[in-house]
Amino acid sequence: NMNQVEESKKAAAYKAVDNHVCDNYSIGIGSGSTIVYAVERLAERVRKEGLKVVCVPTSFQARQLIITNGLTLSDLERTPELDVAIDGADEVDENLTLIKGGGGCQTQEKIVASAAKCFIVVADYRKDSRSLGEQWARGVPIEVLPLAYASVARKLQKMLGGKAELRMAKNKAGPVVTDNGGFVIDWVWEKVGDWQQTNTQIKMIPGVVETGLFVGMTYKAYFGNADGTVSERQ
Ligand code: A5P
Repeated sequence: NMNQVEESKKAAAYKAVDNHVCDNYSIGIGSGSTIVYAVERLAERVRKEGLKVVCVPTSFQARQLIITNGLTLSDLERTPELDVAIDGADEVDENLTLIKGGGGCQTQEKIVASAAKCFIVVADYRKDSRSLGEQWARGVPIEVLPLAYASVARKLQKMLGGKAELRMAKNKAGPVVTDNGGFVIDWVWEKVGDWQQTNTQIKMIPGVVETGLFVGMTYKAYFGNADGTVSERQ
């Protein structure tokens, strides 16, 4: 049930912050609903232990979280290398390959993750998967420049098969617009052998800004379980 899911997100997020944040750290702050608990714990540790940390956001939402929790806001200009980045995921497979971007924030999330010495994922048990697509049915989110959405979608389907669709907004007539002013294409694949290769192929299509595939970037994932325990994958 929903309560269990929220409790499991919280347990994973708290454990990750306790295990991977130290004094004087620069920290990348991910987006989504699970990261809210990580920021909550981080703010608590800063208050109680007097930690000095700076936080780099991955989205408008993350920036607001950092500010409203009274944490020190930085950016990649002032802090181009981070000690750690913590983020959620839409799905995590057994090799720690991720799908991200359900919330449309994957571009900044990937930049921040790549700037970190250590990238940590926090998620509930529903995200834990043997292979991608077992749990997550909405495909790979791909940010594109608006003018290229149709040509990118066409090339995706031609090159890689499956179905590529422009993500439409829920409360307005028109497409979802990202924090960067981009559009999002959700590509539901039919068959994929190698995620690294697929990621490279998608990225090479002109007009693609970034994909929601995170391959070989994650050091460790924390999954909150329904019974309140936390599993780790490294
Ligand atoms: C945002 O675009 C996504 O990549 C999120 O990181 C991801 O959807 C995880 O969000 P939840 O913690 O809400 O599942």
